[in-house]
Amino acid sequence: MDRKRAKERIEELREEIRQHDYLYYVKNEPEISDDEYDELFKKLQALEEQFPDFQSENSPTQRVGAPPVDELPDVEHTAPMLSLQSSHQEKEARDFHDRVLRGLGEQGEVAYVAEPKFDGASVELVYEGGALDRAATRGDGQVGDEITENVRTVGSVPLRLMGEARPVPDVLAVRGEILISIENFEDLNQRLINEGKEPFANPRNAAAGSLRQLDPSITAQRPLEIYVYDILYLEGGDVGSQWEVLGALRDWGFRVSELSKRLDSFEEVIRYHDDMEDRRDRLNYEIDGVVIKLNDLAAREDLGSTAHHPRWAFAFKFPPRKEITHVDRIIPSVGRTGIVTPIAMLRPVQIGGVTISRASLYNIEQLHKKDIREGDKVRVQRAGDVIPQVVERIEEDGEERQPPFEMPEVCPSCGSVLKRRGPFVICPNSFGCPAQLAGRIEHLASRNALDIEGIGEETAQLLVKEGLVEKLPDLFDLTEEEVLSLEGFAEKSSRQLIEAIDGARKVELRRFLYGLGIPEVGQTVARDLAHHFQSLIALREASLEDLEEVPGIAHKMAAAIHGFFKGQASQEMLDELLDEIDLIEPDIPEQQPLQGLTFVFTGGLETWSRSEAQDLVERHGGNATSSVSGATDYVVVGDNPGSKLDEARERGVETLDEGAFKSLLSSKGVDFA
Ligand code: IVH
Repeated sequence: MDRKRAKERIEELREEIRQHDYLYYVKNEPEISDDEYDELFKKLQALEEQFPDFQSENSPTQRVGAPPVDELPDVEHTAPMLSLQSSHQEKEARDFHDRVLRGLGEQGEVAYVAEPKFDGASVELVYEGGALDRAATRGDGQVGDEITENVRTVGSVPLRLMGEARPVPDVLAVRGEILISIENFEDLNQRLINEGKEPFANPRNAAAGSLRQLDPSITAQRPLEIYVYDILYLEGGDVGSQWEVLGALRDWGFRVSELSKRLDSFEEVIRYHDDMEDRRDRLNYEIDGVVIKLNDLAAREDLGSTAHHPRWAFAFKFPPRKEITHVDRIIPSVGRTGIVTPIAMLRPVQIGGVTISRASLYNIEQLHKKDIREGDKVRVQRAGDVIPQVVERIEEDGEERQPPFEMPEVCPSCGSVLKRRGPFVICPNSFGCPAQLAGRIEHLASRNALDIEGIGEETAQLLVKEGLVEKLPDLFDLTEEEVLSLEGFAEKSSRQLIEAIDGARKVELRRFLYGLGIPEVGQTVARDLAHHFQSLIALREASLEDLEEVPGIAHKMAAAIHGFFKGQASQEMLDELLDEIDLIEPDIPEQQPLQGLTFVFTGGLETWSRSEAQDLVERHGGNATSSVSGATDYVVVGDNPGSKLDEARERGVETLDEGAFKSLLSSKGVDFA
């Protein structure tokens, strides 16, 4: 390919990938499969490698993480990043509204925009000429830490603005919140705990900590997301209201909350707050209130700001979710990985409408550090769906305390002698311990793995206790009669469970890998492994070195994964599971002659029917797709071609007639006679 064509191709691929990133991360409506996406990505990478002077820091390939730095430099904000006046008292919110009316000399109502108050890390993103130029933490509001390279790794942050619906401004600075979803937070903490590291106290700390890494490739491994809600500075554009701001941000390709609303009276604002408080637990990220903003930007100017906060906005917060209660008992609980976790059994307490009676104390070191003992008075915190935590002990005068809790010597579930590994106590009986098996069943059935509805903690424990499942693969041999014999199951629910299990037999490789509960393998790593190895066979055969080659997989992780696949018990379990399960895997063995090439056929061929030709391509490792895209390498043109030929010409994709197609096959060593 000549330089001119390569440059065009690189731009086309970037644009196409950007569009798919947008559909995937921002709209949550992907239009192509992971493999098709990968294909595009690899093509772009290859061209950028071949033509390094066309590389650009805003290319989608540059999201993987730049080299580490020694410190995060200071950067001044384009406009001060102010704080908000806030309270969870309704009266204070009404007082704010009164001040707004008075300040504007209004009698009746003014329009507001109400938005969720995201509980994450506040950032400024600056775009110049439509390209992401820099990003910063809030810092003291005037000066923050520069985190551009880290922010670049966040999939939902556009690296270039979209200009179809609205012209791209010359300079744009926006403010938004970087978050980690509750689900991903739990995954991340589990990973950190497994690595012997401190878990984060809550999703906000996890987001902020991940953003301030000195090594962007660590940030790239963290499942960060963004919601954008404000324009800090705009040059070469015009907006008149907050509602228009949100629309403009959407048009430029930012992720803007669908929950934001334009409201015409303050009573509606109060209802919005109450409604969001009800919905709070069903969101998969944390919000700690709603932000109320005067809609009209000119009126905002009139009201102005103090040094600390704008007079036109208010954070109407939800009541705190920390409560005080007592620890009745501390019990050791064995999880699916064999780690024995001390659990505080609490005197039941209501936090944000949910009764809490158990909280994790993580591990024996954490427990001793916080010095929590049976009978103590403690502060407990609940964050979304996250397992409640004991935050701290509250000292009481003259109290007589119980002795410190000590871990048992043997596993409370199977009686094996427990082992100590760093701060953790572990039951070594991986394949024989009923508690571990129940944990593994629950994990395999969980939403992000095989997604078997009807198998939660309780059912998993019951299946093990009643001896119906003695090893993971037994799950797939269950019959309706057996399930019916379990406490709490009736005919309909038994049938539904068996149907759900059957429905889960066909599963994508990455979900299956995640569901296996391999040490160190959360959703992200499972996905990376599936992408890299493409098939379970390849992964099972991978050497330690092969595993270490997967981007983002460090030595320790690689060793754990390798250990799992080489262990005899896990090999047997896998073989048995594979008899029951039909893996959907992108199974392309390496070094196939047409590997990496994508063909589109149009018009009739003499030698083959359309589907025979497609089969031929796919059997030899190529892709055959039905529409011409940036990923297409060749369009094979037969008699009476359709519009695909025009598309090929428009996009400059190479076309082949039947003879040329055959020559190509021969030159690649494909035997088609
Ligand atoms: S507007 C000057 N909108 O809440 C007004 N802030 O102190 C700028 N926050 O750290 C803030 N969700 O990061 C605004 N929808 C939202 C928000 C939001 C969360 C954060 C913000 C700030 C804190 C308030």
